[in-house]
Amino acid sequence: MQISGSNVLLTGASGGLGQAIARTLAGRGARVLLTGRRADVLEPLAAELGGASTLAVDLSDPAEVDRLLEQAGEVDILIANAALPGSGRLESFSTEQIDRAIEVNLRVPIVMAHALAPSMAARGAGHLLFMSSLSGKAATAGSSIYNATKFGLRGFAGAIRAELRPAGVGVSCVFPGFIREAGMFAESGAKLPPGVGTRTPQDVADAVLSAIERNRGEVDVAPIGLRLGSTFAGIAPEVSARVTRRMGGERITASLADGQQEKR
Ligand SMILES: NC(=O)c1ccc[n+]([C@@H]2O[C@H](COP(=O)([O-])OP(=O)(O)OC[C@H]3O[C@@H](n4cnc5c(N)ncnc54)[C@H](OP(=O)(O)O)[C@@H]3O)[C@@H](O)[C@H]2O)c1
Repeated sequence: MQISGSNVLLTGASGGLGQAIARTLAGRGARVLLTGRRADVLEPLAAELGGASTLAVDLSDPAEVDRLLEQAGEVDILIANAALPGSGRLESFSTEQIDRAIEVNLRVPIVMAHALAPSMAARGAGHLLFMSSLSGKAATAGSSIYNATKFGLRGFAGAIRAELRPAGVGVSCVFPGFIREAGMFAESGAKLPPGVGTRTPQDVADAVLSAIERNRGEVDVAPIGLRLGSTFAGIAPEVSARVTRRMGGERITASLADGQQEKR
């Protein structure tokens, strides 16, 4: 997929990773529609990027999602990046908070793909990219709602990738680990045990670029140790859960949940 000159719809553009993705794609000559809830963050970013436009919408409202899709017009590349952290033990959530996390993190990306894929298929070109997480490959205590949505995105992306391949439409799923400097992990203030490595928002943006340009199905953005750990969790989830417990995994998710309370 050629990025230069393409119309990109980027959700979560006001967030830590979204801003890096927006700058990188605009730098490659894409026309980017930046969305998020905070117009006061989107507008200066669009001004900085020159050709970008903005639309502030709340994706937990289905009518707003429709408005965004109408306004977006012909989309060549969808980057479904917006999400809520969904961190914390299950009993700490209200039903409304569960619904909102599933809506924003999983249902909206599906609805957007459903709306945009037919015209991409008719044109024989286009790309759908879903921002999952290593939490979409390895489940941890204190992360059940986030895990559910990010595992869900992985399954959805894999299936429609196979469905859309004959039509010439690419599909990718990106799996960041812990990202420093900006974004929902960095802002939580949670501390990692020594030896657990991080990546930067720019690493995620570079992975997005490479996923789209080379139509890569799945791309991890994490040091080798975390990548191997999440692969192992897929093969032997029970053993992996035991190891994670011994390494203090529940302490990390608990401190994440504390730092992300206001994002529910
Ligand atoms: N940061 C990490 O370490 C990390 C690791 C793995 C995966 N990820 C994934 O990377 C993606 C970006 O995360 P981030 O770190 O950039 O998070 P972030 O800084 O918290 O940004 C989240 C973005 O989602 C938008 N959003 C949330 N709820 C919304 C709603 N109801 N309607 C519209 N937009 C909404 C936010 O918009 P407003 O702020 O304008 O409301 C913001 O632009 C997410 O899918 C996340 O799960 C992040």
